[in-house]
Parts: sequence; C-alpha cells; structure tokens
Amino acid sequence: MILITGAGGQLGRCFQKLAPDYPELKFLFATSSDLDITSRRAVNAFFKKNNITWVLNCAAYTAVDKAESEPARARAVNVTGAANLAHACAETGAGMVHFSTDYVYHNRQNTPFREDDATSPKGVYARTKLAGEKAVQRMLPGAMIVRTSWVYAREGANFVNTMVRLGNERPELRVVFDQIGTPTYAPDMAEAVLHLVQKVEKDELAQEKLEGIWHYSNEGVCSWYDFACAVMEIAGLNCRVLPIESREYPTPALRPPFSVLNKGKIKEAFGLTIPHWRESLKRSLQDDQD
Ligand SMILES: NC(=O)c1ccc[n+]([C@@H]2O[C@H](COP(=O)([O-])OP(=O)(O)OC[C@H]3O[C@@H](n4cnc5c(N)ncnc54)[C@H](OP(=O)(O)O)[C@@H]3O)[C@@H](O)[C@H]2O)c1
Repeated sequence: MILITGAGGQLGRCFQKLAPDYPELKFLFATSSDLDITSRRAVNAFFKKNNITWVLNCAAYTAVDKAESEPARARAVNVTGAANLAHACAETGAGMVHFSTDYVYHNRQNTPFREDDATSPKGVYARTKLAGEKAVQRMLPGAMIVRTSWVYAREGANFVNTMVRLGNERPELRVVFDQIGTPTYAPDMAEAVLHLVQKVEKDELAQEKLEGIWHYSNEGVCSWYDFACAVMEIAGLNCRVLPIESREYPTPALRPPFSVLNKGKIKEAFGLTIPHWRESLKRSLQDDQD
C-alpha cells in the first residue's frame, strides 16, 4: 500500500488524480485530518493498521512567510513529521519519497545547483526543510529525497492561480524580476515519481537506485516576472506586468535570488524527459484533464 501523506495539498491531489492510471499500485490517501504526521504515536498506529510499503510524503508546512512567526509549528511538520514517517518506514521496511525545496540553496551562485552543492538555507521554512531532509536520511538512508521548486497545480493556492485571479481583476501588476528559478507543474513531478515507484514494484529497478537527493523541476529558467507574463499571455488576460525588484516587495522571509536546479542526475539515472515550463504551463491552463 502506497501512503500519500498531505493528500489534500497541491502535490497530494496530483497523486490522487494520477492513481487510476496505475491500477496495479494500491494507494492510501491521508489528509492532515486522517493522519497528523507530527504525532509519532499516530504515525506508528497508522502503519500498524495498514500494510504500508511506501510513503510519498506530500505533507509539509509550506507557508514560507508565516513560518517566520510560527517556527515551532514549521519544525513540527517539516522536521518531526518527516522523521516520524522515516522512523516508521525503517521499522517496517517501507520505502519513502520525501519532497524538499530549492530554498535550501541561498547564496550568490549563479549556475544551476547540483545535488552535492553546499546548502545555505535562510529563513525558518528553508532551514526546517533542510533539517527534515537530514532527519529522514539519518533514520532511513535509503530514502529518495526530491528537491523541487516553484510548485503549482491546477488547484491550490499557488502563483499561477494568483496571477490568473489578479489578471482578471486588475489592469496592471508588479512582479519581481530578480528572483530566478524554474516552475514545477506538480502533475509532471508526481508522474515522474510514480513511474519510478512502479518500476521498483515491478522489479525493473532496484529500490537502492532511488537513494539520496535528486532535483526535479520543469526545464528552462525564468524570473517570477517572466512567469507572470507567460501566465497572462497563455491565459489571454489583458493585464500589463511590470518588473520590480525584491526590495520593492518586502516579505517576512527572504527568497533566494537564484535557485535553478540542475536535473542532470535524475534524467541520466532514469532516462526521464522533462517538459519545458512553458509547455507545462500551457497544459495547466488549457487542458481540463490534468
Ligand atoms: N509549493 C511550492 O512552491 C513548493 C516549492 C518547493 C518545494 N515544495 C515542497 O513540495 C512538497 C509539496 O508541496 P505542496 O505545494 O503540495 O504543499 P501544500 O499544497 O501546502 O500541501 C501540504 C499539505 O501538507 C498538509 N499538512 C500540513 N501539516 C500536516 C501534518 N501535521 N500532518 C499531515 N499533513 C499535514 C497540509 O494539510 P492542511 O492544509 O490540512 O494543513 C497540506 O495538505 C512540500 O514538501 C513542499 O515543501 C513546495
């Protein structure tokens, strides 16, 4: 049984939508009210009751700015919660895929980050996500940890949906152009991960091959400003987007100025083809099926 934690979130819901395409895999979807991952007792009881063979941990505290004023809560979910799941997997022999963030990289580098580049998280969210990765690796060295960036899906509170809403309401929008990264269409990442889990389940891939840290985002590079322009263009919205600097839009948590992820490792290891972010954005805005 594949347990999807945080099943009500953006990524969790993508796994729910994809599940019917993988009839040979059995899923158990747990929202935060079905399973609070911060409780080790609840996690252990959940594992005892259900025959969990994999956990795809989509549960996280993702409110980057709010985390600055709720560090204990962010830590409970992103560190303790991740550790609880990894511990239960270690006890029962289940596999684990854990998701993390490009925000673990926050320095002056301006070439795409590789998985073994030094991390330098700033802010509560970024620091708790890195600590969560480390806790998972300590408890379950065989876990697959996927660092991703700028995640969006058709449903959910995300940049694309915010741009579409504001683009319908306003003639003009100001968006930062000095933060560079790559969007990730959550269904693309969910599909890539399920493809790998299925290969392991079919004995076409050794589970040990998934071990370690991996990057996944769409292909290409852009600023939030470019991303917003593309949303307006593809959605056919008549809203002018103006580039501004981050200092003109101060937020409680600092964002890295450059956090492009190099995906060479995952592409080469598993022969994955990753769509360009504009192609995926088009699918997200135009295709009702995803
Ligand atoms: N969103 C991004 O731009 C982004 C960027 C880089 C990396 N990531 C990473 O990608 C992963 C998926 O993110 P996402 O965008 O899908 O996040 P999301 O939409 O915020 O979903 C997170 C889910 O976790 C659940 N959750 C929170 N606390 C929980 C708890 N104690 N026990 C169980 N579930 C809990 C939430 O449920 P409630 O809503 O009921 O609290 C929510 O459904 C996360 O690891 C995130 O750090 C995201």
